[in-house]
Amino acid sequence: MRQKFVAGNWKMNLTLPEAQALTSEIVHMLHDELLSPAAPQVVICPPFPLLSAVGHLIGDSGNPALGAQNFHQKESGAYTGEVSAKMLHSVGCQYVILGHSERRQHFREDDELLSQKLKTALAAGLRPIFCVGESLETREADETFAFIGKQLKDGLFHLSNEEFEKVVIAYEPIWAIGTGKTASSQQAQEVHAFIREQIAGAYDAQAAANTSILYGGSANAQNARELFGQPDVDGGLIGGASLKSRDFVEIIKSF
Ligand code: PGA
Repeated sequence: MRQKFVAGNWKMNLTLPEAQALTSEIVHMLHDELLSPAAPQVVICPPFPLLSAVGHLIGDSGNPALGAQNFHQKESGAYTGEVSAKMLHSVGCQYVILGHSERRQHFREDDELLSQKLKTALAAGLRPIFCVGESLETREADETFAFIGKQLKDGLFHLSNEEFEKVVIAYEPIWAIGTGKTASSQQAQEVHAFIREQIAGAYDAQAAANTSILYGGSANAQNARELFGQPDVDGGLIGGASLKSRDFVEIIKSF
């Protein structure tokens, strides 16, 4: 059975006191309200300077787990201002987001760079949350499947079976990120099923059945239940709503 996930992507938000307050609230609510063994794996992904403090507050039970939003593809060296995957692992990160559309767009991260970063993350012991997703233009041109198929093939499917087992995929249509426009549960299901088919083709049916595929893009406490109710939607990568403790916890409770 594949794992259910809810990951919070804080992006470039929150100061240290704000992050501490939000994390404490989330931890307390989860402790009081969510004790089911079927509960999803929760991952919190704060910006770099907040990782240690947030990690300290979530503790070492493994759920919630700590994740990062980025790192440099090289292992170490003269890269002023950069952060390595090993450093992230050493401060308690277990996950890292990769291929987010904001990084592809604003920081020109392409498939080649992402391929390198995937290898570096895995070598450092981090599980990548690998994002794919089409723009509105691509969707309207009816090219969504071709586009996502290419992102998977060029960015991800070079991994060995063993490496691929560690990867979580997030489908995040760019037109739904931070816009308040969510993909309908049917649109999400269609793309998730397509991604699973592509995994079966590149690896095998077992790998396809075991891979967690999350939806991201204006997911919130109101629409999470319907989205997570789809057979191929295994959870969410949550931006805006992960910055509000009550909303984030309600999303986690939507399974
Ligand atoms: P959003 O962001 O939930 O604010 O749309 C999702 C994401 O970018 O991961």
